[in-house]
Amino acid sequence: MCADRLKVTVGVCGGIAAYKAVELVRLLQDSGLDPHVVMTRAAEEFIRPLTFAAISGHKVITSLWSEDAGVGSDDESGIEHINEAQTTRALIVAPATADTLAKFAHGLADDFLSTMYLATTAPVIVAPAMNVNMWQHPATRANIETLRARGVKVVEPGSGYLACGMVGGGRLADGPAILAAVSEALSVHPSPVAPVSAANDFAGETVLVTAGGTREAIDPVRFIGNRSSGRMGFAVAEAARRRGARVILVCASTTVEPPPGCEIVCALTAEAMRRVVLQRLGEAGIVVMAAAVSDYTVKEAATQKLKRDSARILELEPTADILAEVVTRRRQGTLVIGFAAETEEMLANGRAKLERKGVDAVVVNDVAASDLGFDSDRNAGIFLKRDGAVEIPAMTKAEMAERILDEIGRLRLESPRIGNPA
Ligand code: CTP
Repeated sequence: MCADRLKVTVGVCGGIAAYKAVELVRLLQDSGLDPHVVMTRAAEEFIRPLTFAAISGHKVITSLWSEDAGVGSDDESGIEHINEAQTTRALIVAPATADTLAKFAHGLADDFLSTMYLATTAPVIVAPAMNVNMWQHPATRANIETLRARGVKVVEPGSGYLACGMVGGGRLADGPAILAAVSEALSVHPSPVAPVSAANDFAGETVLVTAGGTREAIDPVRFIGNRSSGRMGFAVAEAARRRGARVILVCASTTVEPPPGCEIVCALTAEAMRRVVLQRLGEAGIVVMAAAVSDYTVKEAATQKLKRDSARILELEPTADILAEVVTRRRQGTLVIGFAAETEEMLANGRAKLERKGVDAVVVNDVAASDLGFDSDRNAGIFLKRDGAVEIPAMTKAEMAERILDEIGRLRLESPRIGNPA
């Protein structure tokens, strides 16, 4: 649902005010966001997950361990708390109980919400609600101060009649006040851009890079994958970041550490990658699709591990061509660069791919060369544009990334109005 809306996560804790989170989810939807809900065990004592599922249109996550943690959820492509942490644009905890605030402050991770809190780099907004004495207790005050010092936005509770019969501070802030904090966090959240090098020619650009190789499940333990390590995409992301860009790095399976300073989003399968890329496309002025995306997926992956018996035929179906879809959906001004892994006829096959997909350029790689490309720190290729080609001789992937960015920079100057009308 709402592929073009920003995903946010609402963490609901166990308190009387849990029911008010229903209204908050609605408000978030009305403001154009796509809220997903995570509930603590205690929250389920106050309100049923079904209520949030019906309103949000998404499965509600209630546990690290049950079926909810991955299988059958919206994103079946990995470890669910990490996926949720990496794909959300903001974590909003309302009501936040004294217990959850304490867990956050002390780094405990014994349920989905506290684990996700540690794993996310998205802005975190907490709206506490509790008994007035609990709110004023030095332990809670200290926890709140710790969280504030770490950048957590605290939406102060209001004063009034509390469910415990007392009057005072501790009442959950109003929905609009929480919404205002969310909007502010989303608009000013700095992407973790690292210091910029002398060549600052990509300052002000947002570059979306895909990297790694996708995996298509055959059964719970086996998959169809490829040899991509992610090195080339990571090198492009790192160079773009160093040259001043904000970088959204969409990663499938990789064998090396991603570069620092990029916003990392996991997308293990072709379909997950499609979803993430299309969701984030509107933010990007430059898209570089270096990932090796599977062309086929298993039509019906087995839910149990397949046993060895007689010969078996896997029925495959084609995946969506993400690159081609990006070209048709991009807004005006967005440059789209593909990669073409070829084993023969590099120039002719590369040119055909450029035309077929409608991209502005393709980086053609000879993946048959044993000392270059996959699993190697070195690469070579051709930067193929609509009106010409630039040969890139064998060099390190870091150097090649710089050359690719030089060419993209030139394309930007030559054709500033590339793309679809807004
Ligand atoms: N790509 C994509 N979606 C797919 C397959 C590929 O977006 N389902 C992208 C890759 O990220 C790459 C480009 O398309 O940027 C070319 O990938 P490649 O595997 O070389 O080409 P294919 O389109 O798969 O064509 P073929 O396998 O027939 O050569």
